[in-house]
Amino acid sequence: MAKVTVSTLAKMKQEKQKITALTAYDASFSQLFHNQGVDVVLVGDSLGMVLQGGDDTLAVTTDDIAYHTKCVRAGSKELFVIADMPFMSYANVEQSCHNAAQLMRAGANMVKLEGGEWLHDSIRALTQQGIPVCGHLGLTPQSVHVFGGFKIQGRESEQADKMVADAQALEAAGAQLLVIECIPSALAKRITESVDIPVIGIGAGKDTDGQILVMHDLVGISAGYIPKFSKNFLAETGNMHDAVKKYCDDVKSGAFPSSEHEFN
Ligand code: KIV
Ligand code: NA
Repeated sequence: MAKVTVSTLAKMKQEKQKITALTAYDASFSQLFHNQGVDVVLVGDSLGMVLQGGDDTLAVTTDDIAYHTKCVRAGSKELFVIADMPFMSYANVEQSCHNAAQLMRAGANMVKLEGGEWLHDSIRALTQQGIPVCGHLGLTPQSVHVFGGFKIQGRESEQADKMVADAQALEAAGAQLLVIECIPSALAKRITESVDIPVIGIGAGKDTDGQILVMHDLVGISAGYIPKFSKNFLAETGNMHDAVKKYCDDVKSGAFPSSEHEFN
């Protein structure tokens, strides 16, 4: 498989080819995901929950993400790897640059930040200095205590309009990719159509430019609970390689996600 870059992802959106993404935290799985043709892997701060057993992602540090980014990079030189910037690691421009540099040096191709228009200056500074940025809107887990729980976002029209504006602001600031999480499918479609950068959804319906899942959810073994929007691909395939292959095939064909995995 040819090496995926930001240009590949932009082209995939233009050509309406779905982007497949999964979280990864170690070398064995990153190699397996690469071999099965996964386009993008994310070293997510979800590791605070699925690896560390926390109730949320707030305890995760930049050192934690850097460590797992190194592990993931060791499994594949070719994979397109996004590293999450953890809680409070991008509170201002200086910290954003300092901490993103650590993640890029650990082997990331891009960093992901949660938030909207307020990230403008950080995104500009990062991209100007050679660090590609992925935005993240909707149910941004680092704000779980502001939301009052892991709740679907963007159900009210004012909040939905704000999210569309935020997506456009992130793109204008220089973000080259966007993740949207746990929002109504109609809003996800609207956001996807209102920006030129590729939009990857999780719990956001089928009309985004691609899909991402936490790998533990894909095989039905997450500590805690398995969200409605995910699907256990291991149950129907019987082994990890085929589960990942089936996920990719179903995302590419549009079979996943289906209506049972979406919010209205
Ligand atoms: O941390 C993570 O795994 C994520 C995805 C759910 C998008 O941010
Ligand atoms: Na995350």
